[in-house]
Amino acid sequence: MAVSYIEIEQTSVSLSVKASSRVNPKRFIRNAHPPPLFLQLRGIPTRAERAGRERLQAAAAMENEFQDGKEEVIQAWYMDDSEEDQRLPHHREPKEFIPLAKLSELGVVSWNLNADDWEKDENLKKIREARGYSYVDICDVCPEKLPNYEAKLKNFFEEHLHTDEEIRYCLEGSGYFDVRDQNEQWIRIAVKKGGMIVLPAGMYHRFTLDSDNYIKAMRLFVGEPIWTPYNRPHDHLPARKEYVDKIINRGGNQTVEAR
Ligand SMILES: [Fe+2]
Repeated sequence: MAVSYIEIEQTSVSLSVKASSRVNPKRFIRNAHPPPLFLQLRGIPTRAERAGRERLQAAAAMENEFQDGKEEVIQAWYMDDSEEDQRLPHHREPKEFIPLAKLSELGVVSWNLNADDWEKDENLKKIREARGYSYVDICDVCPEKLPNYEAKLKNFFEEHLHTDEEIRYCLEGSGYFDVRDQNEQWIRIAVKKGGMIVLPAGMYHRFTLDSDNYIKAMRLFVGEPIWTPYNRPHDHLPARKEYVDKIINRGGNQTVEAR
């Protein structure tokens, strides 16, 4: 190490490094917490910022992985306005299926995974690592295992949002996740065994089982889970505002926020 003493006059940040040390003074300064003011002023990323950016890039790159055969486990269509049983498909007449790319535009991420081998599945592991999904649990939803099944089902079907992603991986059975498009139209997303879906924070949605009345789903979360649903309207929440800014108003769509 040639540098034994560094002094940065502009900010009065100083750092002494022993001649025998292997510390890289530039790296030392960049990794300091809090970052020196001169780094902040120059817009030079700190280690935390770089790590955050790399995490986002890794998470985004993962969105295009494990897409083969996805149409067999995830389908989407526009819903009719009927008040009939929520467990029915509620197709329009004629049916209006939606390409899964349209779901991506709405911020919905999804994959096709091997649900028969989820405990050893390397692809699931990659997704969890890239997106920081540290928490996992599994729940069975069916009349036999869920007390007050009918009442709970109605509850799940209340339109709501969360301040974090809702991540579900269908291990057995099937269910419907309903979301709204940029023009407030309901889209029904049918998820079967092998389908994994991420609804972004701030996106209004609801869930119901279908007429088969059974789903075994893995729930995932970044860190300690927060399941709190905020029933519509909760447009003032930062997560909602961010979703509207990033997704709904992207490309200059003029969307009325209130129902
Ligand atoms: Fe939810």
